[in-house]
Amino acid sequence: MKSNRILVTCPKGIPPYLKQELASLGYPVVAESIAGVETKGSLADTMALNLLLRTAHRVLCHLSTFPAHDANELYAEVSAIEWEQYLDEHEYLSVHSSVDNPSIDNPLFANVKCKDAIVDRMRKVTGERPNSGAEMSGAVVFLYWKGNECSVYLDTSGEPLAKREYRRIPMKAPMQETLAAAVIMESGWSGDGNFVNPMCGSGTLAIEAALMALNRAPGILRSNFGFMHLKGFVKDDWETVRSKARAGTRKNLSGKIIAADNNPAAVQAARKNAATAGVDNLIEFVVCDFRETPVPEGGGIVMMNPEYGERLGRMHELEFTYKAMGDFLKQKCRGYAGYIFTGNLDLAKKVGLKASRRTPFYNSKIECRLLKYDLYEGSRKKDALKSPDAER
Ligand SMILES: C[S@@+](CC[C@H](N)C(=O)[O-])C[C@H]1O[C@@H](n2cnc3c(N)ncnc32)[C@H](O)[C@@H]1O
Repeated sequence: MKSNRILVTCPKGIPPYLKQELASLGYPVVAESIAGVETKGSLADTMALNLLLRTAHRVLCHLSTFPAHDANELYAEVSAIEWEQYLDEHEYLSVHSSVDNPSIDNPLFANVKCKDAIVDRMRKVTGERPNSGAEMSGAVVFLYWKGNECSVYLDTSGEPLAKREYRRIPMKAPMQETLAAAVIMESGWSGDGNFVNPMCGSGTLAIEAALMALNRAPGILRSNFGFMHLKGFVKDDWETVRSKARAGTRKNLSGKIIAADNNPAAVQAARKNAATAGVDNLIEFVVCDFRETPVPEGGGIVMMNPEYGERLGRMHELEFTYKAMGDFLKQKCRGYAGYIFTGNLDLAKKVGLKASRRTPFYNSKIECRLLKYDLYEGSRKKDALKSPDAER
């Protein structure tokens, strides 16, 4: 499997950022969909992709695509794949899927059928039947079955890559790490200047900003990936990939990263999560109302992810909060690029500043926007601060 099709999945709307990442790592973009990008590489390449991609959800190695009208056809086709080339009969196996086929009303049935085909073949060829179950801790197979076409992949990630293993205390409504990384990429944050994150919650944005600025691999803390359980995995090769990633990191930042929240428990969680990620020494943590967040001289990025009424917070109070966020940006953040990430455009109108850019994102099923406000120093005709227009 030297130059195989590799499908990298990601949250909806994230492919533009994932493409940038793949290109900068030197991987071609072969195809793109709403929640994934296809590239090419070997099984060994999946180690680097799993370790380094910030916006990816899973790295899937394509094995086979075939027509399947029902579960019996699925079983026959999956049995024909030479699983013994990829799987070890002593490894634990799990199968997960995305199924939209008229003959299947419970996707778990498709998983079981696919798993049976694999383990039956393994028993026939090796004499042993691998243990299997729902945990993604061993070798993982992914089945994509849409209509009458089915594709089977080795899921080299196992658990999704958003699980970086630093967010031990999630608090309420945390942002998914992959989404946070894409949002920060959209802001153009390079590690120069300051990154101010009022309303930090569990600290995801500040921690991802620190990891990006240091060029630290997002997967460096993870001890388990699906590829580790595949035949041919060489631990020394994995250590080489990790060492190479470590060698390319920066130690210090020129600006400051500030994470603030008015909930002391959130700030404590953010601090602990940052410590687990190994970046707590680079972040200043402050318990304060967002209006009092320290904003260092020198400019940079100020980014807020307020509640937006879907999961937390009451609308009426939030209207005042959004207006006050606009005032805070206007009065305290001159010389910065201001960003608000929200899933409620009605509330965004209350900010009272004109956004210079509105980038769509999805927080699971909720359509969101990253709104950019140019907060120019001094006077300037197109200054967002002078516009009487509310966000439309
Ligand atoms: C949606 S959560 C942020 C989640 C965060 N991005 C994460 O990944 O964990 C919004 C945060 O705003 C904080 N917050 C609400 N009102 C605030 C205020 N007036 N001043 C400061 N923080 C506030 C809440 O305590 C909560 O932690």
